[in-house]
Amino acid sequence: MTTLTFPVLHVLADGKFHSGEALAQHFKVTRATIWNAVQHAENLGIEIFSVRGRGYKLPSAINLLDKNAVLKAIGEQRAWFALEVLDEVNSTNTYLMQNKHAAHATCVAAHVQTNGKGRRGRTWVSQLGASLTFSLLWRFQCGAAALSGLSLCVGVALIRALRDFDVNTAQLKWPNDVLIEGKKLAGILIELQGDLEGPSAAVIGIGINLDFNSSLPKNVLESIDQPAIDLASVKSIDQNALLGSVLKHLASVLSGFEASGFGALRNEWLGYHAYENKPVRMLLPNGTDVQGVVKGVAEDGILLVETALGLQRFSAGEISLRGIV
Ligand code: ATP
Ligand code: BTN
Repeated sequence: MTTLTFPVLHVLADGKFHSGEALAQHFKVTRATIWNAVQHAENLGIEIFSVRGRGYKLPSAINLLDKNAVLKAIGEQRAWFALEVLDEVNSTNTYLMQNKHAAHATCVAAHVQTNGKGRRGRTWVSQLGASLTFSLLWRFQCGAAALSGLSLCVGVALIRALRDFDVNTAQLKWPNDVLIEGKKLAGILIELQGDLEGPSAAVIGIGINLDFNSSLPKNVLESIDQPAIDLASVKSIDQNALLGSVLKHLASVLSGFEASGFGALRNEWLGYHAYENKPVRMLLPNGTDVQGVVKGVAEDGILLVETALGLQRFSAGEISLRGIV
């Protein structure tokens, strides 16, 4: 990593051309050093146009993370959080999982993840300016065994945050994907630490697609193997304001979850479920699938599906839900 890469990207964030010479003068280095910094950005998969005689340019202007702006957007509960903004990290989830002494309510947001993770070892595609990627460490007195409805609660916080910005068409797909027009806008990856009996801690990782046109090469976008959507195609939202709002709603939802479990949020969650009373296919870990009609979720977040064998219960772990059209 060259230490100039992100300072240069901050200048390029305006989406305009900047000549190598002007950048070199600005940072008091040689043009070769600027070139190296840009090379590293390209190695990270950031698309940068380089035009002889004009200089360097991002495909479009991008809105970068700004710690103070996020804290301001959280509002009254800002004192609850320890917020860290990183330029580059393998995965914000991995970073917090490895940092065993991180304080309760530490939130780590990153401009770039080099190894973003989805569930079950899948890849989460993100890029500078194209995505909001962050993780929140939340410590619980209860044991990991009592956290089964947690991921559904996180989905509720995301929907509430989107509604703050008048994005009212977002829905949830059990257990916790956020969809718009049936396409995936955001994903949630929860990793647990601690004992089954307690105390325990959850690293709650969230990736939200902001703007696919900003710096994400087409071939990377095409590597996403299911329909995906970005917020920009619905509404352009400042990512600092969005992160602040998500954290504010997470603070409230997680405190409620600690006090009374998922039950108190169940009706709200059901109101957001994209597949309520709809025919679905449940893909099981052994490669087989079960078809049925969704009949709500239980108090612990387990999905209820009416199948040929009667009402069956599915817990999140290894199961994937797919709609039948
Ligand atoms: P589930 O198994 O819960 O039905 P899923 O198929 O969405 O969910 P996950 O493991 O939750 O799988 O998410 C990872 C998947 O998300 C990847 O396999 C890929 O298809 C998709 N994906 C990766 N990056 C993005 C992104 N930026 N936007 C939308 N979808 C993405
Ligand atoms: C999914 O739908 O599979 C979950 C995707 C979760 C992605 C986020 S991005 C921030 C955090 N860091 C990661 O490596 N993954 C989560």
